Amino acid sequence: MTLEITTTPSESPRSDSEVAQILADPGFGTHFTDHMLTVEWTPDAGWHDARITAYGPLSLDPATAVLHYAQETFEGMKAYRHDDGSVWTFRPGENAQRMVRSSHRLALPVLEPEDFVQAVDALVEVDQRWVPDGAGEKSLYLRPFMFASEAFLGVRPAQHVTFMVIASPAGAYFKGGVTPLTLWLTEEYTRAGRGGMGAAKTGGNYASSLVAQREAIGHGCDQVVFLDAAEGTYVEELGGMNLYFVHADGHVVTPETGTILEGITRSAIIDLLAKKGHKVEERRFSIDEWRDGVGSGEITEVFACGTAAVVTPVGTLKWDSGEVSGGAEGGPLTLEIRQDLVDIQYGRTEDGFGWMHRVV
Ligand SMILES: Cc1ncc(COP(=O)(O)O)c(C=O)c1O
Repeated sequence: MTLEITTTPSESPRSDSEVAQILADPGFGTHFTDHMLTVEWTPDAGWHDARITAYGPLSLDPATAVLHYAQETFEGMKAYRHDDGSVWTFRPGENAQRMVRSSHRLALPVLEPEDFVQAVDALVEVDQRWVPDGAGEKSLYLRPFMFASEAFLGVRPAQHVTFMVIASPAGAYFKGGVTPLTLWLTEEYTRAGRGGMGAAKTGGNYASSLVAQREAIGHGCDQVVFLDAAEGTYVEELGGMNLYFVHADGHVVTPETGTILEGITRSAIIDLLAKKGHKVEERRFSIDEWRDGVGSGEITEVFACGTAAVVTPVGTLKWDSGEVSGGAEGGPLTLEIRQDLVDIQYGRTEDGFGWMHRVV
């Protein structure tokens, strides 16, 4: 632990009854806890001035570089409350290392993984009453992010960078049981090219996905599917989730990494599937293989995964001139993997992988 974090408690924290009211139906991303964590970086001083203060607006110079050139990275993770009241995060070191890789791509400084984990833990500890109980798969969503905070309009890596962590209670992704997604295949927009920043968790990737996501919604779909930029042939990922294809003989395919976000749920699922004896292939997977495989019955289940929804069955894939549908409910392996992961995250089964990290 190398950060020296000072804590100045909020002078107007929400009352216990206000917190209870919010936690009863938190939704997603609209309520924030009483505090936030901030750390500054400059080339000479390195990371310094780590502090937990009352949650509140930032005051930014209009020339702040991130507002112009989007030099920023972020992470998404959750804190889970177990039945005994303890609070845990899931593979936080993986989020920390992904932020290092993202920051490298965005020419931002390295925040050492142990400092990242220390910072996240510190905020969760201070705001621990905001971690909902695990019933109904509620959690405290954690958003670490790093941005170019130097006020300077030149195009070069910022000389002043700020890292922050904020937290927001999150309700169950599926309120009335797991429901399959309907996906829209965009044939106009791509998400990432070779040498681009597709593997980085950075705002620009999400900004560029919005118009495609809007197209998906316009076609009555939940999420957009992106294909590779070079050939428009290979399946990449959704706007915010990775994909898996279960085959009739039990082997499972997931698109290889390179231009997709290396999901932490995705990598956990590779281990879970292997433990269950399934062969997992990480390889290029064409859109025709998907359409033909579902049509012929060679592909028996398709699912998406990510921190928000854990594992979500895919019901239908639509595109401009057609659609293919799998089942109206999630397939058996999809639901089994989902349950395995959720049980580990909420401490209802033994974590044989060493994935859980105790915070409180
Ligand atoms: C583009 C994209 N792909 C995949 C994922 C899944 O990643 P993870 O499992 O780490 O949440 C996310 C989640 O944020 C995402 O934004």
